[in-house]
Amino acid sequence: MNQTLSESGSELRPGEVDVELPALSDAQVFFIGTIHTPWRTRRECPKRGSLDGPVCSIVIDERWRTALTGLTDYRRVQVLYWMHLARRDLVLQTPSNGATTGTFALRSPVRPNPIASAIVELVGIDGTTLQVRGLDCLDGTPLLDLKPEYPSTRNG
Ligand SMILES: C[S@@+](CC[C@H](N)C(=O)[O-])C[C@H]1O[C@@H](n2cnc3c(N)ncnc32)[C@H](O)[C@@H]1O
Repeated sequence: MNQTLSESGSELRPGEVDVELPALSDAQVFFIGTIHTPWRTRRECPKRGSLDGPVCSIVIDERWRTALTGLTDYRRVQVLYWMHLARRDLVLQTPSNGATTGTFALRSPVRPNPIASAIVELVGIDGTTLQVRGLDCLDGTPLLDLKPEYPSTRNG
């Protein structure tokens, strides 16, 4: 544990604690596409997506095109994405409200596996591009998975 500087030498905020990451990963994921949003920096990114937010695009890799079959039947979709710019070694974090809190009690992108999720409104699908509202990630964020929210959000 290091309470002043992380392994990478990044500054820690007061109260923050980092740990050494495991040498090997236990599993691998496939990035299945890329998310495009208006936000280029973490500062300008919303903290949480809003269904009133801007329309963003999710571009699925061609390999997975057929896996979109049936998705237009749903109004709302759960999007899982990989916060690729987040550090992964903090166990205690001090968000902007100043309250030092354990990583698993926060929705911060900083976590051992920087997986984020949002329920989005599906505006439309054109080929392998989805138009959605409700995201809160940076332009270029890798996509992990898509799932219908619940059968109850089925159209019609
Ligand atoms: C608080 S997280 C919430 C993510 C997701 N809605 C969740 O609850 O799992 C959203 C914040 O993560 C940061 N962020 C967005 N995209 C990121 C990325 N690709 N890498 C690292 N941080 C990112 C931005 O600061 C954004 O405001």
